[in-house]
Amino acid sequence: MQRKILVTSALPYANGSIHLGHMVEYIQTDIWVRFQKMRGHECHYVCADDAHGTPIMLRAQSEGISPEELIAKTSEEHQADFADFSIDFNNFYTTHSEENKALAEQIYLANRDAGHITTRTISQAYDPEKEMFLPDRFIKGECPKCGADDQYGDNCEACGATYDPTDLINPVSAVSGATPITKDSEHHFFKLADFEQQLKAWTKAGHIQKEVSHKLDEWFEGGLREWDISRDAPYFGFEIPGAPNKFFYVWLDAPIGYLASFKNYCAHENIDFNEFMNPDSKTEMVHFIGKDIIYFHALFWPAMLEGASFRLPTNIFAHGFLTVDGKKMSKSRGTFIKARTYLDNLNPEYLRYYYAAKLGSSIDDIDLNLEDFQQRINSDLVGKFVNIASRCAGYITKKCDGLLSAELENPELFAEFVDQSETIANYYENREYGQAMKTIMTLADKANQYIDEMKPWALAKEEGNEQQVQAVYSMGINLFRLLAIYLKPVLPKTVEQAEKFLNSELLQWQEIKALSNHTINKFKPLLTRVEQQRVLQIQSDA
Ligand code: 2FM
Ligand code: ZN
Repeated sequence: MQRKILVTSALPYANGSIHLGHMVEYIQTDIWVRFQKMRGHECHYVCADDAHGTPIMLRAQSEGISPEELIAKTSEEHQADFADFSIDFNNFYTTHSEENKALAEQIYLANRDAGHITTRTISQAYDPEKEMFLPDRFIKGECPKCGADDQYGDNCEACGATYDPTDLINPVSAVSGATPITKDSEHHFFKLADFEQQLKAWTKAGHIQKEVSHKLDEWFEGGLREWDISRDAPYFGFEIPGAPNKFFYVWLDAPIGYLASFKNYCAHENIDFNEFMNPDSKTEMVHFIGKDIIYFHALFWPAMLEGASFRLPTNIFAHGFLTVDGKKMSKSRGTFIKARTYLDNLNPEYLRYYYAAKLGSSIDDIDLNLEDFQQRINSDLVGKFVNIASRCAGYITKKCDGLLSAELENPELFAEFVDQSETIANYYENREYGQAMKTIMTLADKANQYIDEMKPWALAKEEGNEQQVQAVYSMGINLFRLLAIYLKPVLPKTVEQAEKFLNSELLQWQEIKALSNHTINKFKPLLTRVEQQRVLQIQSDA
């Protein structure tokens, strides 16, 4: 049965560059989407820049440009990074759009009219010079525990203490340097607890990973608190209908941005947006996210949708963080690597493969070990996969005019490769990419062993063996072709080159049949070995 699937990755903030930590998620999602498309499903992959909020407003001010200019500039940079990593969005949009404004208002008003919004006055830190309320991260001062200077917000980097920003000693506004005062203001709150029963049922119904559901149990036990969804002017965002000078908090309209990006795309592509959105839709909506934003996606998001009678997500797939050489990415260690820095030095397909080899369906962190990275790519991709084609191509091109044999030399071995197809497909479906890569590399080993054992180069030394030699090399190329199909979601560019060489398009998973009496093209090296110099370079440029 053909599935209809809307897939999203989390929306990157419009005030910073994409780094290799972000790329874990985009690569994970892109592989899944490419796999679904190869299986013949209708799959739409959308994303957007997350354009609203105080940091973006202040960043634009400090650059002397408007927020609109900042987000346009960042969007271009982000899209270039994604394209160069072959992240194949069907639409990349922005949360600062007409569609998003309309949808945010619709979802808010439906919730308000159903009684799920309440207002109350709260007091908060206020910068009297800049005349704005200060989010925690824009207040700094001395740590109330250890006295360390220049500590931001609600935790101390020196001693690790956590506290309330109002506990900071000698607090100052990080925006103007003024001493913050406390000021009252009326805020709008979303009554999350109204949805407790539905959320409890929903989080137990297979939409989220088991380990995530356990985390949610702790949150349920702690009680679901009302969520502050409004911010006072000045704020870069959407004004709340019926509440002048109050704006939706960025996290309210961010996930709605998934829908807005999709809606924008539907309008261009003639896809029925409502078919995907109605509460009993047969379509799927799948969100890939990092484990730090589970609360927003597994509680606030389904509750808001429920309150507005929209469909709920089919799945929320959370992943862990990236560490580099076992540690949190850090500027001083040279491991805070921007996507562009990587792209300036190394082939993006290497990273796609390396992440795939490390990724599973859990929320465990994954480590980019730079030595292991180099060794793994050289041994798996260059030494195993590409090697099969490069060993077999020369003879076929030079001695057989590119023509492959009519019969498979070893049909049993070919069948063994075909037999793994559904196992590998299941691994992809369940995001067990590491298992998929392992299975594929075991097959690559088998293909190389086959050639080693048949020794076609030795056979070729004696006259009269031409047919047999052609058959062995053709067999090797056919095995390579199956592996190329299996690796295509991970290595789209490399496999595109392989398709030219094979003179055969590998569009669908079902293409797993043998080529016979088929002419291939001249082989050009598909991937080169990772140079250590380049790996060192990404660290020193970081
Ligand atoms: O954590 C972040 O980087 C957010 N910009 C993610 C938003 S995802 C979605 F909800 F919009
Ligand atoms: Zn401290």
